[in-house]
Amino acid sequence: MASSSWLLFSVLLIPLITCTNAAVFTLQNRCNKPIWPGILSGAGRPQLMNGGFRLNPNQKYDVVAPTGWSGRFWARSGCVFDQSTNHGKCTTGDCGGRLECSGAGGTPPASLAEFTLDSPEDFYDVSLVDGFNLPIAVVPSGGSGNCSAVYCSSDLNEGCPEKLRVRSDNGETAACMSACMAFNEAEYCCTGEYNNPHVCKPTNYSEVFKKACPTSYSYPYDDATSTFTCKGANYLIIFC
Ligand SMILES: *[C@@H]1O[C@H](CO)[C@@H](O)[C@H](O)[C@H]1NC(C)=O
Ligand SMILES: *[C@@H]1O[C@H](CO)[C@@H](O)[C@H](O)[C@H]1NC(C)=O
Repeated sequence: MASSSWLLFSVLLIPLITCTNAAVFTLQNRCNKPIWPGILSGAGRPQLMNGGFRLNPNQKYDVVAPTGWSGRFWARSGCVFDQSTNHGKCTTGDCGGRLECSGAGGTPPASLAEFTLDSPEDFYDVSLVDGFNLPIAVVPSGGSGNCSAVYCSSDLNEGCPEKLRVRSDNGETAACMSACMAFNEAEYCCTGEYNNPHVCKPTNYSEVFKKACPTSYSYPYDDATSTFTCKGANYLIIFC
């Protein structure tokens, strides 16, 4: 190989080969208010964007995840942060009052987009197991395999059962708790004697979530209709 083509090879192709599995997550805010996406990486995986940032209405932002990354995305709403310290609070999805969650999870209720990349395919889902705060969708592009888009686009806050409602200071329903969070009973949480997919079944509460978002997790053992796979894709994550 002539040295100039070797140079071309190493500059153009080696990065392409080694980065070929990295995924780009494009986060898009279609809400009519700002949101503050939160990102929590799985154990031992690098934090992306230090775990959080602000995203204005109609904005998109690309976040690159390395090969084998796992973690979750959610939106925080109604946040107020001190400009100099970046400390403050959010009405929903708060992660310890910080703009950058840096390894802290969101306080439920929050709608989640969950990913495990390259295992050996990408596994992804939308989960309402920790409740719902904003509509969320996951739309793969450029991958091979099933790669179904997952939309949880209806506003579950409107149809949220009274006992599950979380209200903001102005009285609006800001989020909808899972029955597990609201009542902390084994039947809803799939814990204790219910810690078994053959025993823990949908309930009248989880069915409210499933009806609104048929391809999202509505309770912990909802795998059959809520887990999706794709290989080598990038993912658009739409809030609202
Ligand atoms: C892809 O997944 C969806 C949802 O699970 C399913 O309905 C569909 O049949 C699958 N398509 C293929 C080609 O496997
Ligand atoms: C679910 O069932 C329980 C017990 O029967 C009842 O108290 C509750 O109101 C029902 N909730 C909904 C949302 O239907």
